Amino acid sequence: MPVASLASPSVVAPTRLRLPDLLHATDRAADDVLSGRYQHLLPAGGPPADERWFTRLLGDDELDVWFISWVPERATELHDHGGSLGALTVVSGALHETRWDGGALRRRRLDAGDQAGFPLGWVHDVVWAPESIAVNPAAGPTLSVHAYSPPLTAMSYYDVTERNTLRRNRTELTDKPEGD
Ligand SMILES: [Fe+2]
Repeated sequence: MPVASLASPSVVAPTRLRLPDLLHATDRAADDVLSGRYQHLLPAGGPPADERWFTRLLGDDELDVWFISWVPERATELHDHGGSLGALTVVSGALHETRWDGGALRRRRLDAGDQAGFPLGWVHDVVWAPESIAVNPAAGPTLSVHAYSPPLTAMSYYDVTERNTLRRNRTELTDKPEGD
């Protein structure tokens, strides 16, 4: 009689793409942004200095790629990405990502060229962070490129409770990136 496998079932996303594919897609798109390929998609005068701005660079049935501009004092909320995998590459400036690790919030800084991947179940918050003054004394918007597969359709928003657990507040249907 065959022995039943004790291996726990793995989580399978409804996409053939993997996190490394998404990281690669954001890396390529970041290069294209830096080379000026998407200059025509930017507002005249560049992204606004006082509000978050974004535009879709690529989109098909399995992958969305967004270009996002982040500004100071525009917090998002702890959120997941529904049933989508995600990834980002910082093009210029810096971001702080605060992630729920299952027991606590952990913050990391992402500078230009840094990448982050978001597996299923990843709950985080991303905000503008100041650049090193040595790099850019006149801090402006941070630019980043994000990829989601399958394309985003829903995001849930969370709080951390007094008992240090995660509480889901609401779920919204959206295809817009990063909690707008
Ligand atoms: Fe996110």
